[in-house]
Amino acid sequence: MTARPATPPPFRAAILTGASRGLGAALARALAARGTRVLLVGRAAPALDAVVAAIRAAGGDAHAFAADIADKHRTHAIAAAAEALVGPVDLLVHNASTLGPLPLRPLFDLACEDLSDVLETNLVGPFRLTRVVAGGMALRGRGTVLHISSDAATNAYPGWGAYGVSKAAQDHLARSFAADAEAAGARVRFLSVDPGEMDTRMHDDAIPGLSDAERAALGHPDTVAQRILATLDVAAPVAALPSDAVRA
Ligand SMILES: NC(=O)c1ccc[n+]([C@@H]2O[C@H](COP(=O)([O-])OP(=O)(O)OC[C@H]3O[C@@H](n4cnc5c(N)ncnc54)[C@H](OP(=O)(O)O)[C@@H]3O)[C@@H](O)[C@H]2O)c1
Repeated sequence: MTARPATPPPFRAAILTGASRGLGAALARALAARGTRVLLVGRAAPALDAVVAAIRAAGGDAHAFAADIADKHRTHAIAAAAEALVGPVDLLVHNASTLGPLPLRPLFDLACEDLSDVLETNLVGPFRLTRVVAGGMALRGRGTVLHISSDAATNAYPGWGAYGVSKAAQDHLARSFAADAEAAGARVRFLSVDPGEMDTRMHDDAIPGLSDAERAALGHPDTVAQRILATLDVAAPVAALPSDAVRA
């Protein structure tokens, strides 16, 4: 068992989407180790359960909730599960993401429905969940909504169009929510963080066949998660930061 931290954690209760592997799972582990109660969301229940079991074995308070972030009928269920299982949420991490059809291809070869699907997962789903969760944060005068972005939000790479468009829009969604929160006097901060290249399944899917040396140069999700939490610790209490200003 891991000893509980003596001081209260910066975040008491968090929802993390895409937490069954990669960066989302690493953030859930890191937050739980600091004493934050975490709700892990993803589509594959067995993978979520395995991460939750490992966090609990280490002394953390974690719960799994299987849901597709793109499914609008699950948005309220995610928020309700969080309220019931981890309590009032003061951190929402939009980490789940899709690249779209693989292998990556030029926009010229992408179906309109494929672009819509990418936007549903990477932009509209997070928008819906923020709308449901951020109201409670505003009423409690405390909350952080973190979007996991990408350098594809600011650089146009061949083949990465749908994903890049979704990440650019997601960054601006965070800025726009922040502007609206500030105008309303709501003490909810909206941040976007580019985690940099990491050794995860998404990276494998996008760029298969890396050499050992190339893979070794990628960030490890656990290391990146610690950097992101350190960034959150020092970020302004209520702020919108452009994604290119925060690189974890
Ligand atoms: N890896 C990189 O080099 C890199 C670079 C820049 C930015 N990022 C960003 O970092 C974040 C994490 O990426 P990662 O590399 O850790 O990816 P990953 O290992 O592929 O993990 C993605 C997670 O998202 C979940 N997910 C995918 N679609 C979902 C949906 N519709 N609803 C709910 N959950 C869903 C997956 O679980 P299920 O499949 O079970 O749902 C999984 O838990 C993403 O936002 C990504 O864009 C990654």
